Formats: sequence, C-alpha cells, structure tokens
Amino acid sequence: MRRSTTVVVMAAALGGGAGGCLGGISHEEPPLAEVIGSFGPALTKVNEEPVESGAVPGMFIDVWASEPAAREYLRVINGESGSQVTLPEGSVILRVLRDRAGRATRFTAIVKREPGFHPPADFSFAVFDADGQKARGPDGALMEGTLAECLACHLTRPADGYLFGWPRR
Ligand code: HEC
Repeated sequence: MRRSTTVVVMAAALGGGAGGCLGGISHEEPPLAEVIGSFGPALTKVNEEPVESGAVPGMFIDVWASEPAAREYLRVINGESGSQVTLPEGSVILRVLRDRAGRATRFTAIVKREPGFHPPADFSFAVFDADGQKARGPDGALMEGTLAECLACHLTRPADGYLFGWPRR
C-alpha cells in the first residue's frame, strides 16, 4: 500500500540473501522495515540471534522494542516470574516470527495504551503477514486491537507487565 519504489528495489537486492539456516538476515528486509515504519516510535532490536519460540513450535523469533520499553523488556526473564516490569504508555514490542531458513513469516505486536484502554494490561495487539501487511483472521477482520486470543496467554503474566520475555539460550 505505502510501498515505495525504494522498498521494491531493496526487495530485489535482498532476494538472494535469505538462504542458509538463519543466515543472511538483514535488518533492512522490506517487510520488517514496513512493519516497523507503521508504528510511531523507532524500534531497536533487543535480542542478538534468533531463538526458538516457546509459544509457536518450530519457529524462531527476534524482538524489537521502542525506548525505554526495550530496556524494561530486558528485565523480563522467560520462564521466571516477578520482574514487576510496567511498560510506559506508548511502548511498542514487536516479535518477528521466522522459519528455519530465517524468513520472516509473521509479525506480532503489543502496544501499551493509556490507562483504562483495556484493563488490566491496557494492550492493543496487532498481527502482520509475511508481506508486512496487517493480517486478517478467519472472519476476515483485521487482527488488531484488544484481541482476546492474544490476551488470554499474556494475562497469565501479571507480575511481568503481561510479557513473557524471549527464551534466552
Ligand atoms: C499460547 C500462548 C500465547 C498466545 C495465544 C499469544 N502469545 Fe504472545 N507470547 C507468548 C510467549 C510464550 C511469548 C514469548 C516469546 C516466544 O516464546 O515466542 C510471547 C511473546 C510475545 C511478544 C513479545 C513480548 C513478550 O511478551 O515477550 C509479542 C509482541 C506477542 N507475544 C504478541 C502476541 C499477539 C499479537 C498474540 C495474538 C495474535 C499473542 N502474542 C498470542 C505466548 C502467547
């Protein structure tokens, strides 16, 4: 939609780089750049190498976050409870789901909204497809907003700002 010629040219240039096991991942890959660009704040990468997702079997993840959320998010330890992290309003956390070849196949995002938006987490969720466009659910509706299917899991983490943290290796 807002795809510019520059992005298309970048796609062509990067086309050959996605081979190999999780190799050749560029942070400039067009769908990721497009998803990141759709949020207000700039996002920085939080983890180093992609790690296997604990939530989505067989997939690998990277996490990007706005500042100062990125620093807060570092304190959330996957598998442990009690970091007492609370994200400031306007924070964005983006999880990139990658297949074994390193290709981004889906993007899931959490935006921390204003107090009272949707207590107790006050999260707005969003899901993007591999092409960087907003995903649609089985009913055809855009997968964004207070999505109950996302909240169900994240609400189980009240002592960590409703966040899981990425699996450390
Ligand atoms: C089955 C439980 C479950 C459901 C349902 C779920 N998540 Fe998560 N989510 C997790 C786990 C576990 C992690 C930790 C990273 C991983 O293992 O992939 C996570 C991580 C995340 C992160 C990175 C921030 C964090 O908490 O560490 C985002 C963003 C996210 N999920 C968004 C979503 C969205 C959007 C949906 C709905 C489409 C969703 N999640 C549904 C379990 C779930």
